[in-house]
Amino acid sequence: MNQPVMQGLSLNTPAYVKNAKLIAWVADMVALCKPETVYWCDGSEAEYQRLCQQLVDAGTFKKLNEAKRPNSFLAQSDPTDVARVEDRTYICSARKEDAGPTNNWMEPGQMRATLQPLFDGCMRGRTLYVVPFSMGPLGSPIAHIGIELSDSPYVAVNMKIMTRMGKAVFDVLGTEGHFVPCVHTVGAPLAQGQQDVSWPCNKTKYIVHYPETREIWSYGSGYGGNALLGKKCFALRIASNMGRDEGWLAEHMLILGVTNPQGRKYHVAAAFPSACGKTNFSMLVPPAGFDGWKVTTIGDDIAWIKPAADGKLYAINPEAGYFGVAPGTNLLTNPNCMRSLERDTIFTNVALTDDGDVWWEGMEKDTGSLPAHLIDWQGNDWTPEIARQTGAKAAHPNARFTVAATNNPALDSAWDDPKGVAIDAFIFGGRRSTTVPLVAEARNWVEGVYMAATMGSETTAAATGQAGVVRRDPFAMLPFAGYNMSDYFQHWLNMGQKLQAMGATLPKIYTTNWFRKGQDGQFVWPGYGENMRVLAWMIDRIEGQGKGQAHVTGISPSYEDLNWTGLDFSAEQFDTVTSIDKAAWLKELELHDELFKQLEHHLPKELGETKAAIERRLAA
Ligand code: OXD
Ligand code: MN
Repeated sequence: MNQPVMQGLSLNTPAYVKNAKLIAWVADMVALCKPETVYWCDGSEAEYQRLCQQLVDAGTFKKLNEAKRPNSFLAQSDPTDVARVEDRTYICSARKEDAGPTNNWMEPGQMRATLQPLFDGCMRGRTLYVVPFSMGPLGSPIAHIGIELSDSPYVAVNMKIMTRMGKAVFDVLGTEGHFVPCVHTVGAPLAQGQQDVSWPCNKTKYIVHYPETREIWSYGSGYGGNALLGKKCFALRIASNMGRDEGWLAEHMLILGVTNPQGRKYHVAAAFPSACGKTNFSMLVPPAGFDGWKVTTIGDDIAWIKPAADGKLYAINPEAGYFGVAPGTNLLTNPNCMRSLERDTIFTNVALTDDGDVWWEGMEKDTGSLPAHLIDWQGNDWTPEIARQTGAKAAHPNARFTVAATNNPALDSAWDDPKGVAIDAFIFGGRRSTTVPLVAEARNWVEGVYMAATMGSETTAAATGQAGVVRRDPFAMLPFAGYNMSDYFQHWLNMGQKLQAMGATLPKIYTTNWFRKGQDGQFVWPGYGENMRVLAWMIDRIEGQGKGQAHVTGISPSYEDLNWTGLDFSAEQFDTVTSIDKAAWLKELELHDELFKQLEHHLPKELGETKAAIERRLAA
């Protein structure tokens, strides 16, 4: 293969890269971004160690105490670059209505004209890393390939953990294979001799998707979903478009395996809005009283689900690691996660202890006390006294860990199976202090789609400054659906119809709400491992055993239908988390009307019909 040379700069294309379209695209991007060098990642362990050392030398990483946290690093980001930037995220479809009212939109030509001058020379003085990755097991019929070009070595090492990254991707790609092109820059070119900072970024940010041409362009941020483009950008926003066109689903769902004491195994995919405990649920440890039950993790955030000839829906986790929120994680909320993080982890924006380990809010529950002194996520001294006086958090509330799935002691043996696992149930869970019961089973697929379409989550004061406002988050996909939300609802209805026409038994659909509060404003349901009680009821229902009572919005268990062994939870408390308040539901339906008004373009008529049926039941 001849080596294109750009302005005297070799592309350094390895001989094993044979895809002409890829090589031409890299050449174009090098010509545009003008990096100093080009480096093709091979995904090897030696490369990972080398890049981590480079990040330590550059001051981006601190190596943690090898005796306490082997092979682990801490990164502290620029304080202005700490989370996904939804207001800077665009779906640039040719027609505005195809992006829909829930996405930011700009006409593609106008966006390209906006980005062109920003990307021109954006990588000056930096290395462009070519990061080849597979979302899903290499070669799986459900998997797809992406190539990320990034000027951030932090991105390269995180992508190594989060995806199947490296040389083998080129074997799957071959000479003609298709890939999703993803370009990422921190937007901080270096002039000759200019000293770099430890977390380069730009105050201008654009996270841009062109759904028709399946491209991703990300400018100005080095953080999480803005920069690790395989995750939200590809695996959800672009993949949801691919799924609509090709007849499959790309969902913001964890996937878990649950085996009952009889040894029968089921698979559940569950969608919860961000910050509602998805990672915890995916790694759930059954409590005392559930001997013989086993929960195993296939994925903690994203599911790609394709129908097979047998009429079943098969799901894979397209990711290979977890990029989870650290604060709040401890041995009570998620013991399997804490064990996963014991080694080989990249931490971002947590605090540093005096003995070179990490700390975040919530860990005091494990040790019984706060550390006497820390360096907080911004590099300042932190003591319990300072925290009391100023409210300063040691870790940023969105501080993250990046860790390989293979570190998880509860990893499912089929997590890497190219054919995926057959889904038996979907769960949609919101965060609501009132109205929505602990658990309800939809009577049928359409009612399930209605429940998922109308799910909501109350904002927390930390995130928005305003606590208790219900943000509708259909299917937990509000920030992630890469096309018109009503068309997305229609796609779900179509999938159900298609499978039913094949004579298939559709997965059951459930809603959950772990977050109902009592008169005292406290959560009533204990959550975490105790959610097993609800999960076990669902499995019993799937087996045709579990009892339930039909009500206005589905079927829920009575107090005696759940297994209470090992938990002191009264019938009154159960009533607090399950009661259906007619007045509250009438108000709730008004809010559904508001949502449907916003989404009226292409809104499936089945949703209006389902709402009318709920209203009839409420009136009865
Ligand atoms: C995530 C999110 O980071 O949903 O997974 O925001
Ligand atoms: Mn998520």
